[in-house]
Amino acid sequence: MTEHKPFPSSFTWGVATSAFQIEGASSADGKGPSIWDTFSHTPGRVIDGSNGDIACEHYYRYKEDVGLMAGLGVDAYRFSMAWSRVQPQGKGDWNEAGWTFYSNLLDELAAKNIDAHITLYHWDLPQGLQDEGGWLNRETAYHFAEYAAEVARRFGNRVKTIATHNEPWCTANLGYGNAQFAPGVADMKQSVQVSHHLLLSHGLAMRAMRAVTPSCELGIVLNQWTADAATDSQADRDLAAWEYARSVQWFMEPIFKGRYPEYALQGHGPNAPVIEAGDLEIIQGPLDFLGVNYYFRAFCSAEEPPRKPEGKLGFTDMGWEIYPQGLTELLVKLKGEYDLPPIYITENGMANPDAVTNGSVPDAARIDYVQRHLAALQAAMDEGVDVAGYFLWSLMDNFEWNSGYAKRFGIIHVDYETQERTLKDSAHWYREFIKNQRA
Ligand code: FCB
Repeated sequence: MTEHKPFPSSFTWGVATSAFQIEGASSADGKGPSIWDTFSHTPGRVIDGSNGDIACEHYYRYKEDVGLMAGLGVDAYRFSMAWSRVQPQGKGDWNEAGWTFYSNLLDELAAKNIDAHITLYHWDLPQGLQDEGGWLNRETAYHFAEYAAEVARRFGNRVKTIATHNEPWCTANLGYGNAQFAPGVADMKQSVQVSHHLLLSHGLAMRAMRAVTPSCELGIVLNQWTADAATDSQADRDLAAWEYARSVQWFMEPIFKGRYPEYALQGHGPNAPVIEAGDLEIIQGPLDFLGVNYYFRAFCSAEEPPRKPEGKLGFTDMGWEIYPQGLTELLVKLKGEYDLPPIYITENGMANPDAVTNGSVPDAARIDYVQRHLAALQAAMDEGVDVAGYFLWSLMDNFEWNSGYAKRFGIIHVDYETQERTLKDSAHWYREFIKNQRA
């Protein structure tokens, strides 16, 4: 597992982060609070009791961080904007200091020849909108579209792509289904309704952005997986079918086919969402790209307790099964089901219990993980899937949501006491890998 045959010369090599996970400066220069500020300051919500107040101090250290990216030789950087930094309440007045931060970041990236890939929403809803019902309130979708249009108007000619949402599955299912993420609600009926409003907001935002930025590529980022039945039993096979329909097709079908998957709609029963006339026409529409985040497959067991996958390649520090072939299977399956635009793998990577010893961070497991997933990606491309780029998650260790700072996903190690950044072995490997791809 070392040498790769070359990827296409036009292939984009990148790294990814998100605002709440790295920026810190949670109330600096007029930024309003987000639901993750509120959630992480609520005792018991984050495993290590931490929050995003300081994080990686990227807000103050962005030049240093872009310098690190340049040193890696990446083509592209995927990051998200904190909505409440540019519009503290999520509606009404803009906060110019917030816009200035992102504008400076874009300048810095341009100076280093690194393409910017913006995500508008990576889970940090302005608390002001949450106070009015958050994503359960249909109005939030319209506020989101206004924010999207303003980003596109200001930055559309300075960035390569804009994605509306990151992983709306998580917002709906973890934010509203099992309370693991902000805003911390556990109610499946609300969760399904929220997923519809997220999709509606995507459709509204796409239209609003198209009207003001003709040049920028627009799309969405979905976390996806194949769903495998643990055994051949009917119960396990039914569960796998349900899982794929409710998680993958639930987001793909409305966008690509203008309808919800019938199997999932029926399965939701009384939890099925209220859909207003015209909503699906708004949601359906061409994407310039589809972002796919891939970490693991769904392993579906109806037994109690559920069977666990064997994990031939092991499990990450999150307990996630390492299953690269799932990436090939997923992409090939999607290609068969939908008329796909070019795909970016917008996230892939692993948590590992890394530590600095004598100035270096040996993380061979991560190098192996990435290499195997790149090989799996090539296998999908060999079968005709159009993949335009790969973004490693993550540039650096950061606030891993309800796991706090305990889980490290970076290829750069962050010492949270000193904010010192140290390149892990995987960062050195990625730099050499990209260089060789170009040679
Ligand atoms: C994804 C998130 C990202 C990060 C990785 C590990 O679901 O989009 O912010 O937490 O998982």
